[in-house]
Amino acid sequence: MSVHQSGKRRSVPDLRGMKAADKIVMLTAYTKPMAQLLDAHCDVLLVGDSLAMVVYGMDSTLGVTLDTMIAHTQAVMRGSLHAMVMLDMPFGSYQESKQQAYRNCARALAESGCQALKLEGGAELVDTVAFLVARGIPIMPHIGLMPQRVNEMGGFKAQGREAGAAEKWVAIARQFESAGAFGLLIEGTVEPVARAVTEAVSVPVIGIGASPACDGQVLVTEDVIGMFNDFQPRFAKRYADVGAEVTKAAAAYAADVRSGAFPALEHCFGVKR
Ligand code: KIV
Repeated sequence: MSVHQSGKRRSVPDLRGMKAADKIVMLTAYTKPMAQLLDAHCDVLLVGDSLAMVVYGMDSTLGVTLDTMIAHTQAVMRGSLHAMVMLDMPFGSYQESKQQAYRNCARALAESGCQALKLEGGAELVDTVAFLVARGIPIMPHIGLMPQRVNEMGGFKAQGREAGAAEKWVAIARQFESAGAFGLLIEGTVEPVARAVTEAVSVPVIGIGASPACDGQVLVTEDVIGMFNDFQPRFAKRYADVGAEVTKAAAAYAADVRSGAFPALEHCFGVKR
């Protein structure tokens, strides 16, 4: 059953209105078939730059291009009717200057048809967000653990353990709110930091590896469905074992082909049955 009543896509004002009213459900989607499966159940489909790792097998998110992000977002738009679709701006496409950010964000929005964009950053990104929002580009900044900074962090490590971390991230979150961000995404911080940030701002805060206090939650869909037999992040909950089912199906198909059990005559054309 769909959670969507109105028949139209979730919008930026819809999401703003959900703070403290309804929990916001977000999952990643990179393809049309997956978007079709998720759309009825999600408020937001995030075309995350995690697709660099999940789909293309890269070691980090750094290698994905804006062209690739736009192509996958177009596919997700074709597979969805109800959820807001949000595109993750890739590394190097917005950090250079406000003008570079505007050029690439405007292109991403116009060519993909999505409703909003996500940018990773801290205090250094606040002016850029203000510049983009003032020119009609809805932005959800991604704070806390920022995978595009993997080299600087020396790996994907939980953030916010140092003294004063909550105050630091609350201050940044408030700056983004003043800059016009319609929401925030907080990843991989210790729980009290995510809780403090959520309580400090009037825009919705979506968490991943963050806190149940957040206004919504996002996960990488492949972690939720158990797509990878050998990998399960601690912060994700697995609701299905699709990877094992795919392996089982491939093994059964291979056995049938090798034994001659497939195809049977019922799978062939021009045979009277
Ligand atoms: O790229 C992505 O999928 C993300 C989520 C993990 C939040 O940024």
